[in-house]
Amino acid sequence: MKQPVEGFSKLTKEQKIAWLANTHFNNQEAALSIIRQYWNNDEVLQKLHDEFIENTISNYYLPLGIAPNFLINEQLYTIPMAIEESSVVAAACKAAKFWLQRGGFKTEVLSTEKVGQVHFIYKGNKTKLEQFFNNIKPQLYTDAKEITANMEKRGGGILEISLVDKTKNLDNYYQLHCTFETLDAMGANFINSCLEQFAKTFKNEAQHFADFTEEEKQLQIVMSILSNYVPNCIVKAEVSCPVTALNEDKNIAPEVFAEKFVQAVNIANVEPYRAVTHNKGIMNGIDAVVLATGNDFRAVEAGIHAYAAKDGTYRSLTHASVENGIFKFWIEIPLAVGTIGGLTNLHPLVKIALEILEKPSAKELMQIIAVAGLAQNFGAVRSLITTGIQKGHMKMHLLNILNQLGATEEEKQYFVTYFKDKTATHNAVVQAFNKLRAKA
Ligand code: MEV
Repeated sequence: MKQPVEGFSKLTKEQKIAWLANTHFNNQEAALSIIRQYWNNDEVLQKLHDEFIENTISNYYLPLGIAPNFLINEQLYTIPMAIEESSVVAAACKAAKFWLQRGGFKTEVLSTEKVGQVHFIYKGNKTKLEQFFNNIKPQLYTDAKEITANMEKRGGGILEISLVDKTKNLDNYYQLHCTFETLDAMGANFINSCLEQFAKTFKNEAQHFADFTEEEKQLQIVMSILSNYVPNCIVKAEVSCPVTALNEDKNIAPEVFAEKFVQAVNIANVEPYRAVTHNKGIMNGIDAVVLATGNDFRAVEAGIHAYAAKDGTYRSLTHASVENGIFKFWIEIPLAVGTIGGLTNLHPLVKIALEILEKPSAKELMQIIAVAGLAQNFGAVRSLITTGIQKGHMKMHLLNILNQLGATEEEKQYFVTYFKDKTATHNAVVQAFNKLRAKA
């Protein structure tokens, strides 16, 4: 039976890897060789990556791809995408090209407000709590001055602090609901530092508020943390064209394409089983750009899915309509991302990704990410209502299967041609591969 390991974080990287090999691998040499194969020869670069997290043993590669030809508000962008799923970048490129010829994407940031909360328990008179809050509110701002000074110089800072009574939801539960403008920073550190300072001031001052009883003075701060739900940090992206211009696919009339497309989006709007997959396809595009630009895709995912369920039913993040012969397709999502701070200053490939995007502001990045999501959804729905997704999907997956089979470059080229007009299911590829090898 395996034993727990003591003091693991204090071991050196080599010691950690040796422990890992001893504990979890029969073929230790083979495991060690793969782990080391992914180390970077540049020691400084490797150390940088080692120090991103605890207990680093190696690097985990994802491909970084690019999707050119995105026309957004009359400007051309090449979008960097970090993703492992084979058809995502290809679909983005195809959608970009399609809309390039039809006026491109139009985008707009509707709001940029971030949120954080101090959650606390107060067992006492509500009116007295409100009086206390109103008394000390200016001090909440002044005590946080050291944290907010720089952000204020740049035009951001704390927007509002309000006291919220949540006792209907949970006994004695109140909160300070705080909103922030964090400009080009995602703002997590800034917001959390502000909140922890608010909590400190709030707790300290409560002890000196003459109207509080002894019990009321003992209000309990439970936690102070930003919220990844940002329904007032919203970006919109849109494409539109005359229905007659939806004429790329010769096998389907433009009117039928438009009608089926709108139906597909409407289905995702009312049917959560479909909505989850529909939105997953959108996140294929969104996460890939969020990751390439060094942003926190878990935060973005959590916030966007909560937004998709904001009225109590999980719905599509995109919408489509046909009115007066015009097809319109758009997305509206919350996005808290940054182009300064965090990994953006640290990871060399993130810097490259931001340069590819011409060093965007956070607002510009929000718009680019929304476009990537919309484009991805356009590609997926377009395939679904015409050929089905397997055709394109398996074509892209073909190389993965061939790599698994250990195909040579020559064999790969042969099979790409061979499967051009056939469906490349896993089974079909394996059979064709074995046949070719048997012949050889
Ligand atoms: C696959 O990663 C994404 C899709 O399933 C999205 C969709 O169904 O809309 C193709």
